[in-house]
Amino acid sequence: MDKDVLTRVAKQMVSPGKGIIAADESSGTSKKRFDAVGIAPTEENRRRYREIIITADGLEEYISGIILFDETIRQKASDGRPFPQVLADKGILTGIKVDAGLKDLASHPGEKITEGLDGLRERLVEYKALGATFAKWRAVITIGNNIPTDACIHANANAMARYAALCQEVAIVPIVEPEVLIDGDHSIKACYEATVRTQKKLFEELQEQDVFIPGVILKASMVIAGKEAPKQSTPEEVARETIRALRTSLPKELAGVVFLSGGQGDEQATENLNEMNKIGAGLPWPLSFSYSRAIQNPVLKIWAADPEHNAAKAVQALLFRSKMNALATKGEYKSEMEKERPY
Ligand code: 13P
Repeated sequence: MDKDVLTRVAKQMVSPGKGIIAADESSGTSKKRFDAVGIAPTEENRRRYREIIITADGLEEYISGIILFDETIRQKASDGRPFPQVLADKGILTGIKVDAGLKDLASHPGEKITEGLDGLRERLVEYKALGATFAKWRAVITIGNNIPTDACIHANANAMARYAALCQEVAIVPIVEPEVLIDGDHSIKACYEATVRTQKKLFEELQEQDVFIPGVILKASMVIAGKEAPKQSTPEEVARETIRALRTSLPKELAGVVFLSGGQGDEQATENLNEMNKIGAGLPWPLSFSYSRAIQNPVLKIWAADPEHNAAKAVQALLFRSKMNALATKGEYKSEMEKERPY
């Protein structure tokens, strides 16, 4: 294990004022997003759309890394350069989603287990050769009647720790992403409890597998009331409860925390991150973002409205949301800034 490389890359992923874009939607998820805006789910359309994000001029000012899907890491820009090369030329790190998605957890109705450990060692060697310096594995934890169970939390934490150890073997920084889903009508308190149970178990398992913690990034869900909850959470509540959960669960050696947007509105995700960074001074970890939808929503919509002519407008939207979130990593975002929105 090359601890120097792991430490350096992990630090670079959460360097001040920068965050990560998740552009690693599987072909299935990408189809859902394309269907919603009337784009045919072909390999070439996925390439064309991702090219807009990957080649955007100036993105490196706000973005430290982009997570790609297996298909995308093998694709090329129109000028012939492989996508990881385009990113490297701008100083943006290439990440790769390596989990194989969700399956029902046996004997546990309503709960999921993430698959993808079989053959992972060999796949990581290949991804490294293709230019990946970090990876992502997502597990989901669902809040409901008598769930999450310890069985689900434990099985997912164990798989994630084994994934992380395999990544570090080849000096790839693992992002561990245990997403507590926002779906449902649960309270912020229920989310806090499920989040702390999940994160604590994950770090126990990481330690048991001898994972090098300064070479790990946690991709966390925010502590927030369920989407259907009668009482929705304010940014102040989200910031306070999320930070309280992190303080309770995480070792201080962890390299950093990046948040997923999880179905929050675009501005809501920016505002919540900003609030955390306003009150989070003195925390041992940088708090940044690794958003997919909260950055890409306007980008995809604009491009899809007229793919032949709207690429430049889509890039403007991408740069704007990236900048707003980059400001939020420093607690410097203000909602009035949305008036400058170029879309
Ligand atoms: P969202 O920001 O859309 O939740 O996606 C983040 C992600 O990469 C989920 O794995």
